[in-house]
Amino acid sequence: MKNRSLVSINDFSKEEILKIVELAAKFEENPNQDLLKNKVVASLFFEPSTRTRLSFETAINRLGGRVVGFTDASSSSTTKGETLKDTIKMISNYADLIVMRHPLEGSARYASEQSGVPIVNAGDGANQHPTQTMLDLYSIQKTQGTLENLNIFMVGDLKYGRTVHSLLQAMAHFNPVFNFISPEELRIPDEYKYWLDSKGIQYYEHSEFTDIISRADILYMTRVQRERFADPIEYEKVKNVYILKNSMLENTKDNLRILHPLPRVNEISTDVDANPKAYYFEQAENGVYARMAIMSSILGVV
Ligand code: CP
Repeated sequence: MKNRSLVSINDFSKEEILKIVELAAKFEENPNQDLLKNKVVASLFFEPSTRTRLSFETAINRLGGRVVGFTDASSSSTTKGETLKDTIKMISNYADLIVMRHPLEGSARYASEQSGVPIVNAGDGANQHPTQTMLDLYSIQKTQGTLENLNIFMVGDLKYGRTVHSLLQAMAHFNPVFNFISPEELRIPDEYKYWLDSKGIQYYEHSEFTDIISRADILYMTRVQRERFADPIEYEKVKNVYILKNSMLENTKDNLRILHPLPRVNEISTDVDANPKAYYFEQAENGVYARMAIMSSILGVV
């Protein structure tokens, strides 16, 4: 992993993924270390973020590193017409590692081809969000005791949901059964279904989830992302289709855990928050440890 970019979750092998999960657990036990002393990380967020940016910055600070960057492209020279290529070429002369979120699919791969230092993709449009996936895997391992042979239910915006796209590719290493629940308009794209077919992974598509979640080990809820719709009327049609309520969890498995990459809008009712099966806030905390593991592996300090 040393000196390599993380653009897609497929950039890491199964063994490397497991190593990051193992390392995240070690960082959770001992989060304050000086491993990134004298390292500078550039944090370039061309799109809004709360968890990803702040958990990266927390991870860097707790490991003794320094952060430069911007939280809003409008405060950068992008507004003067500077290209992504020029921005990345220049910043790679300032920093040891670049963490970048950008609204365009493929932008992280393009940046990695221009950069003299590794790029970590913090989300590129509807494409991939591999560091979210690493914290999702760490959360699944912690709550289930394994990543193998699980029944994973994914609900909501499976078309534009980059966290879903990355997670299903990572879980494919571990013999899962997927159940995809979405409205017709937000079905998982065919390219991911062909990919799962090529790996021999079982998956089923549904439009309702109330009667079937009793079989789930992991219920991965997602937000319908208003910002990905060109037509606001299309968003209005699907925004309230799936709302998880506490009463729906009565007959679910004891080991069921509810994950959500967050932010949520209304797809998980707040009455679920006190249910012991709700794990989304702990999941967000796990992001700090997973990102510590990713950065220190890429920077070759562990
Ligand atoms: N999960 C996630 O990517 O959240 P943010 O958009 O707040 O970073």
